Amino acid sequence: IPENFRQMVEAHELLRKFYHHLLMNTDEGQHALEYLTNRGFSKESIEKFQIGYALPSWEFASNLLQKRGFALEQMEKAGLVIKRERDGTYFDRFRNRIMFPISDHQGNTIAFSGRALEDEEPKYLNSPETPIFNKSKILYNFHLARPIIRKHQNVVLFEGFADVIAADRAGVENGVATMGTSLTSEHISTLKKNAQTVTVCYDADKAGIEAAQRAALMLDQAGCTVKVAQMPEGLDPDDYIRKYGEEKFKADVIGSSLTLMAFKLLYYRRGKNLQNEGDRLQYIEEVLIEISRLDKVVEKDFYIRQLANEFSLSLDALKQQVNQRGSSTP
Ligand code: CTP
Ligand code: MN
Ligand code: MN
Ligand code: MN
Ligand code: MN
Repeated sequence: IPENFRQMVEAHELLRKFYHHLLMNTDEGQHALEYLTNRGFSKESIEKFQIGYALPSWEFASNLLQKRGFALEQMEKAGLVIKRERDGTYFDRFRNRIMFPISDHQGNTIAFSGRALEDEEPKYLNSPETPIFNKSKILYNFHLARPIIRKHQNVVLFEGFADVIAADRAGVENGVATMGTSLTSEHISTLKKNAQTVTVCYDADKAGIEAAQRAALMLDQAGCTVKVAQMPEGLDPDDYIRKYGEEKFKADVIGSSLTLMAFKLLYYRRGKNLQNEGDRLQYIEEVLIEISRLDKVVEKDFYIRQLANEFSLSLDALKQQVNQRGSSTP
């Protein structure tokens, strides 16, 4: 590892400790700690995830880093400070935010995401891409979750920090998050290397459902066994746990995740009225296309029977149509 990379990591480690201390032990951090407590973050979670607080100061980090002998020019490349055009001085990127340290897969702190305490924009301010932080490679919490992921051969994929941390508190410790970016092929290869099954547990809003569909297809393509968790419309996993509790989350969300096929069928049902003949025919057509794409004969048979039963259709007609499709696709 080049010397300058090592220094960038050291600066992140130093700030992680200070931000955490400011949150836990100072008057200035009190309202931030209250914010987290009100949101249901436990002391244990705050410790485990080393959550912190950045003061509403323009020079807390800049001064500290300089005093400890870090070159601010390099700290700018690390994403921690920003240079003023007018006089070449530096100011802190992260001010008055709840700080989530982001670790690489070995456990080094390499970036931060700072959440606003109120409704300021952006809600989360992230470190930029730097020589030590490549967003398309990093999964939040992978370092801590890896042993559990490998042991259970299952990884739960969330959208964000609060979801991973709430799930962890509920005992789902094999969770990781992409932190807002879409799932990349590098993320997928990390997941696949460590687990047989990936359970996608994204927010149940329009964006989340569509992202879950995309992620599920990519993971399936890559050869993972994919499950997709379901939640009531409008909630995310963190909301769900606060509303319905940890046990219900484990049983009714994680434990009742759908297979990819069941998720697709549900996806095609959305926005359709299956009492309506046109909608019904379109749904049947879409499902037949999905069935014809399945590799396993037994699975094809299973879903054909299910479709035949639900809509009182003849098995023979469905089989014929699936086989026609199957032979016409390359
Ligand atoms: N995100 C981001 N920048 C934003 C908004 C979101 O980087 N301006 C990332 C964060 O990692 C966030 C994730 O995308 O955790 C999911 O976004 P969203 O669902 O909007 O946020 P929540 O995780 O639900 O955040 P909170 O519960 O704190 O409102
Ligand atoms: Mn501590
Ligand atoms: Mn979301
Ligand atoms: Mn969310
Ligand atoms: Mn949320």
